Amino acid sequence: MRRVVCDGQRLGLRDVTEADVAALHSIYGDPTVTQHMPFTPRSLREVAELVGQAMEAAAAEPRHLYVLAVVDADRRHVIGVARLHVEAEHPHSAEIGFGLHPDQWGRGIGTDLVRLLLSFGFKQLGLHRIWGARSPANLPAQLAMLTAGMVEEGRIRHHVHTPHGWRDSIVHSALQDEWIER
Ligand SMILES: CC(C)(COP(=O)(O)OP(=O)(O)OC[C@H]1O[C@@H](n2cnc3c(N)ncnc32)[C@H](O)[C@@H]1OP(=O)(O)O)[C@@H](O)C(=O)NCCC(=O)NCCS
Repeated sequence: MRRVVCDGQRLGLRDVTEADVAALHSIYGDPTVTQHMPFTPRSLREVAELVGQAMEAAAAEPRHLYVLAVVDADRRHVIGVARLHVEAEHPHSAEIGFGLHPDQWGRGIGTDLVRLLLSFGFKQLGLHRIWGARSPANLPAQLAMLTAGMVEEGRIRHHVHTPHGWRDSIVHSALQDEWIER
């Protein structure tokens, strides 16, 4: 298994391990983080299960799922989580998802994270298309993806069922041949 290591200036990405469960729970278990997501805050046990599944998926060949810890500049603290899912039927294309601990918000780190995910997907994985779907109300995610170069592609009506009912998604995408690393 080839482990993921991807370094940016302020951030890094690496595969999650069992040692990350508590740090990831402080993100996935926080209701401010999940407010635009189609699920309620995760329990510690649910996060431990997610990490177990992520580690299994990391060993699969071919690999379709990358659940990555987002680490800070000194590569010691986990400050977020990112997910890149290569579509089995369309292996040139992958969906991304991402979240940061709320004490990191508002300093441009989310935008840097989207840039790093694009760089990882296009340069290390050789993908052609990378897309992400967000809640129509998620302004920080909209701005982070736009600034990182992911154009708005359209609306998927009733894309996900949330604890509050059906929710549309706005899709953003970037294509390798029009992407400029920033
Ligand atoms: C989405 C997320 C990663 C953005 O992280 P961040 O570090 O705050 O993002 P940035 O600081 O790079 O800000 C991105 C843009 O949003 C703006 N912004 C940030 N927080 C904002 C807020 N609360 N209200 C309005 N605008 C906001 C910033 O000013 C910036 O705009 P600019 O590019 O015009 O300057 C973060 O909010 C998060 O983890 N949210 C919870 C999980 C989530 O919703 N993930 C996205 C799923 S699609």
